[in-house]
Amino acid sequence: MFRSWYATCPRGAEEALEGELRSIGAKGIRVGRGVVRFTGERDIALRGCLELRTALRVLEPVGEFGATDAEQLYAGALQLPWPDLVARGQTIAVAASGRAAGLTHTHFVEQKLKDAVVDALRERAGFRPDVDPKAPGVLIVAHLANGACTLSLDLAGDLLSNRGYRVRTVEAPLREGLAAAVVLYSGWNGATPLRDPLCGSGTLAIEAALFSARRAPNAQRRLACERWPRTSVDDAPVLTRLRAELAAREVEPAPIFASDRDPEAVDATRANARAARVPIHVSVEDAREIGPLDPPGQLLLNVPYGERLEAGGRKPLKTFYHQLGASLRRLRGHEAAVLSGSEDFESAFGVRPRGPRRTLWNGPLRCTLYRYEL
Ligand SMILES: C[S@@+](CC[C@H](N)C(=O)[O-])C[C@H]1O[C@@H](n2cnc3c(N)ncnc32)[C@H](O)[C@@H]1O
Repeated sequence: MFRSWYATCPRGAEEALEGELRSIGAKGIRVGRGVVRFTGERDIALRGCLELRTALRVLEPVGEFGATDAEQLYAGALQLPWPDLVARGQTIAVAASGRAAGLTHTHFVEQKLKDAVVDALRERAGFRPDVDPKAPGVLIVAHLANGACTLSLDLAGDLLSNRGYRVRTVEAPLREGLAAAVVLYSGWNGATPLRDPLCGSGTLAIEAALFSARRAPNAQRRLACERWPRTSVDDAPVLTRLRAELAAREVEPAPIFASDRDPEAVDATRANARAARVPIHVSVEDAREIGPLDPPGQLLLNVPYGERLEAGGRKPLKTFYHQLGASLRRLRGHEAAVLSGSEDFESAFGVRPRGPRRTLWNGPLRCTLYRYEL
């Protein structure tokens, strides 16, 4: 059935998500803040779950109603056809965002909505679902804005950015969907060599390798909707076909290199790359001493922000940015994309960025993405 869907993403990644949605055939695209609405048949939404790199969730709207206070919220949710949406034995959870004048506490909104769903199922279907916030069978996503509440079901049931390959982390890892947005915004074509010389847990390098290999990042994961009563029978052959099609299009990735001066980061990157089943050349190196790629290619960097500044304050970080700029400037013919959360970065780095700067949100942290032709 042709209908509306939503895909959510980290703030700032909307344009990348829009491009991804267009490329899988989504229509009627409307971009909001952290969300892209689209229209299409159900197989576009299913494909989105398997293939989208920058999406956090793909959502199927199930109802919208006025909600300016708790009573309206409860009454609006109660009348939706829950017995068609939740089967006996399935667990549920509610995740809310946004706010209305009389409803400012997310946890309260979630509680009220959960009560309405449980009461509706008890009264109309004769069972009481358990709540499982960690791995619910049906995750109900609520968004409050302009006095209305939109309720949707999350097709995957868990964030699409939880790809499952992060088995080890070191300090300040990027969310996978945000790292994918950096890869897409960098303009890299996926064919030339690529290096992340500040690799941390390896997220940028792994997302770059997945992109280069044309691997759908969530093709192997079980989606929550594969167990939904209404749709699972019809979805099964579609998902089998999509998974086979996506596996068949994979190619060998370009040479990808990752390094860090911290041996623990290097070990984490190696473990995560193995879990992601992508070949990455990993080494311990100081980013200020790296040599050129052959042939010249793309650098991706997520520079330390100094959130945990030591006694020396901002000065050592500025010196580091300056030395990094001086050293990368020598890599003629390379392109670089740098994600920074520090307002000191741009001037200290000392290389003129090409094209517009982009704002990307790393959770609550406002970051800027710069592109350079070295
Ligand atoms: C913000 S973290 C990168 C996080 C990474 N993008 C991820 O998703 O896990 C910055 C990294 O730079 C590394 N680093 C700091 N100074 C360095 C230097 N001079 N050479 C190489 N790595 C350095 C740190 O060890 C840290 O892992």
